[in-house]
Amino acid sequence: MDILELSYGGAFSPRQEPGGEEMEQRVTGLEGLLKKAQANLEMGAKAKRDGFGWIGLPEEEPVKVMEAAARLKKYDALVQIGIGGSALGNLMLQNALVHPYYNELTREERGGPRFYVADNVDPDGTSAIWEMIDPARTAFVVVSKSGTTAETMANFLLFWNWLRLELKDAAADHVTVVTDPERGVLRAFAEERGCSSLVIPPGVGGRYSVLSSVGLLSAACQGIDVEALLSGASLMRKRILASENLEKNPAWLLAALGVAHAESGRNMLVLMPYADNLKDFTEWFAQLWAESLGKQGKGSTPVRALGAIDQHSQVQLYTSGPDDKFYLLASVDERKELALPDCEESALKPLAYLAGKDMGEMLNAEARATAASLIKAGRPVLWLRIPRIDAFRVGGLIYLFEYATALAGEIMDINPFDQPGVEQGKRYTYGLMGREGFEKDAKEAVEFFQRALARTLMV
Ligand code: PA5
Repeated sequence: MDILELSYGGAFSPRQEPGGEEMEQRVTGLEGLLKKAQANLEMGAKAKRDGFGWIGLPEEEPVKVMEAAARLKKYDALVQIGIGGSALGNLMLQNALVHPYYNELTREERGGPRFYVADNVDPDGTSAIWEMIDPARTAFVVVSKSGTTAETMANFLLFWNWLRLELKDAAADHVTVVTDPERGVLRAFAEERGCSSLVIPPGVGGRYSVLSSVGLLSAACQGIDVEALLSGASLMRKRILASENLEKNPAWLLAALGVAHAESGRNMLVLMPYADNLKDFTEWFAQLWAESLGKQGKGSTPVRALGAIDQHSQVQLYTSGPDDKFYLLASVDERKELALPDCEESALKPLAYLAGKDMGEMLNAEARATAASLIKAGRPVLWLRIPRIDAFRVGGLIYLFEYATALAGEIMDINPFDQPGVEQGKRYTYGLMGREGFEKDAKEAVEFFQRALARTLMV
């Protein structure tokens, strides 16, 4: 069965500057490094090294997750509290695989609870979620790998306090904690209050955790076919391991093109699907690619775009601006059929060329038009064709992008599984919010921030 198709004939176009001609050689020259990188990833997974735990997730049976989902499905709403890797995958799965206006459907049409994500610490956003739910009929899922992230803890404190005021001793029955098996405040809280909990496997990092309890619980509650998601990922894994040839291995191809273009000065990767239901996939991928590879002055900036909307916003820059981007365009074969009508008004005659055409066919024609314009302008394009958006294909896509990102880190000689820049921000936040043990961080944060204020314009 085909999961997807990658066409790379237009992906090698060189930059118009010295050294630019060698793009194809640059890419194929990475084969030796990719072979070592793949061996290293597989060895890391076998040895259960920290960060490598996501590699084996497609083969795991999510028994506990399905049990928890069966319990939570009966609620009217589900609020997930979490941020970054503890939220973006959930939003991506919802966007890809359930009705776009899911929360507005009737209970019968939805089949599961309405779904809200409290990730930011914006008082307007958090209060708005509370206003939308009936606490007695709502389940709260708090997700944090570390069990300490300040934003997640702040939202959790608020919802927990509100819930206790409303439901008294029954409040803990409404909370499910998803966190490390031992570390962090949330694990201790679950034990103290006796509320339900699931484990995030210790070797799985935040942005690689969507196929673990982190992403699967809310997905299962919304009726997403978790088994198909995992089997798509599992088949993609087999396809990746089946060939040590850049032209046959999709993860090698994606990693090598991303790295070679970044090293040649095209240090932006534009992911532009032509499908509304892959919009949040670009958000999820942006975190994965940026946080995994942006280290030691290296990396390339992921750019989220959506076709055809960004044809009317960004494509002018993409075709005629600086040649500093590598483009990954995605089209989908099977969509809902929606034929454009022929109307009788004479004023509408100039639109007759659209009559009888399918809207999905139009979107795919636009994707091809953008690819053609980019290639004409000498810009590199990798073309991704997805037969249809279903759980099986989304599972395959997730695993492909995770594997390619990890390979890219390995061949760039950086650790794709840590995030020192994120941790730095977390420490400064702890310090500025007065957390004990972070006084030095608070002082440093104030000093650096003072530099921003050193010159101020009053308007
Ligand atoms: O990928 C990562 O590790 C981070 O982006 C985390 O997902 C994010 O910081 C949230 O961390 P946690 O799940 O520990 O609350």
